[in-house]
Amino acid sequence: MWDAIWINAHLATMAPEGDYGIIKNGALGIADGKIRWLGEMSALPPGAPQELAKEVHDADGKWMTPGLIDCHTHLVYGGSRATEFEKRLNGASYAEIAAAGGGILSTVAATNIADEDSLYNAARKRLDTLIGEGVTGVEIKSGYGLTPESEAKMLRVATRLGTDTGLRVQRTFLGAHALPPKFKDDPDGYIEHVCKEMLPAVFRESLVDAVDAFGEKIGFTPEQVARVFERAKKYGLPVKLHADQLSDQNGGALAAQYQALSADHLEYTTEDSIKKMAEAGTIAVLLPGAFYFLKETKLPPLDLMRQHNVPMAIATDCNPGSSPSASILLMMNMACMLFGMTPLEALQGTTINAAKALGWQEECGTLEKGKAADLALWDISHPAELSYYIGFSPCAATIRGGQTLSTAT
Ligand code: NIG
Ligand code: FE
Repeated sequence: MWDAIWINAHLATMAPEGDYGIIKNGALGIADGKIRWLGEMSALPPGAPQELAKEVHDADGKWMTPGLIDCHTHLVYGGSRATEFEKRLNGASYAEIAAAGGGILSTVAATNIADEDSLYNAARKRLDTLIGEGVTGVEIKSGYGLTPESEAKMLRVATRLGTDTGLRVQRTFLGAHALPPKFKDDPDGYIEHVCKEMLPAVFRESLVDAVDAFGEKIGFTPEQVARVFERAKKYGLPVKLHADQLSDQNGGALAAQYQALSADHLEYTTEDSIKKMAEAGTIAVLLPGAFYFLKETKLPPLDLMRQHNVPMAIATDCNPGSSPSASILLMMNMACMLFGMTPLEALQGTTINAAKALGWQEECGTLEKGKAADLALWDISHPAELSYYIGFSPCAATIRGGQTLSTAT
């Protein structure tokens, strides 16, 4: 006997490659937090649904997909950057604002003075918004602390968000996000500090699942990133990279060289990088919210990614500077409208490919027997509708490991 069954649901399993994997008029049974059976209603084992499972949910023609996964966020942060947004609209550029000590560093200042509870409460609202859009898994980066204590504080908040909500959370250490004022003229010294003090400190506290860096002219050089990645490898931690967002830094190739889970942004990435990502199995994480909010004009090379079979994921990049959004569905719409993705690619980008971008593909990302019961139920008439709406969520339920998630409010 299963713990629960959903009957009269259309399933978009996302399981076969290159397809929604649709099962019309289907059912899905779960036990111990895992999917135990799925198929057409007509193929259900004999007996009334009540005899098959302790709980019976009649989906009444709704659609079920894998729970969505937001595989790149900075959703723990203090303050807001609305005044900077206003400056940009009055003509200043993102890079100019960063060079003048604003940008990421202004969020660092706001995050450093915030206590854990206020960071938690602000982040929880953003996370609840994601849950309301069918999200069952999320990646959360540090990177607005830039001291061992403050990075640990952010990662503790990320840990607590996972424990309290029941979401699957990957905690990513992003100490190499920006140069703190204390190391203003000594980027190499800061990288040394990141490798020898900060990463060991958060690792000792079991606060970190992966390591990221910002490889960019206004971030860190490929050599500096490589040092951070070497150190991450020593701890057995997977890496990922903010790559080629504002200029080509061979970031895709660098990520691939370290078998990175993903290279993210990629507006300026080259075919050479993409080929290397394909060989290394590094996922391309596309962030249309940042592209939109920074008014970028250079599109990431999607055709090359398709040509070389680099799986594409989509994420919110939820952060106060370049993507103040906690809507994964809006990102799917933007990926279609701004990047020319298809709705199928967009849904792959927030399910199976997002799972791959976090190394979770054996556990979730598709509806398959044996995988976790991380599910989203939708009041829609076709899965393309998930990329179609702008600004509202047709989500009817978000289920993680068999438990229906509810939000704090
Ligand atoms: O993903 N590129 C670096 N990091 C963030 C932006 C962070 C910020 O501006 O606060 C990003 O876009
Ligand atoms: Fe980011």
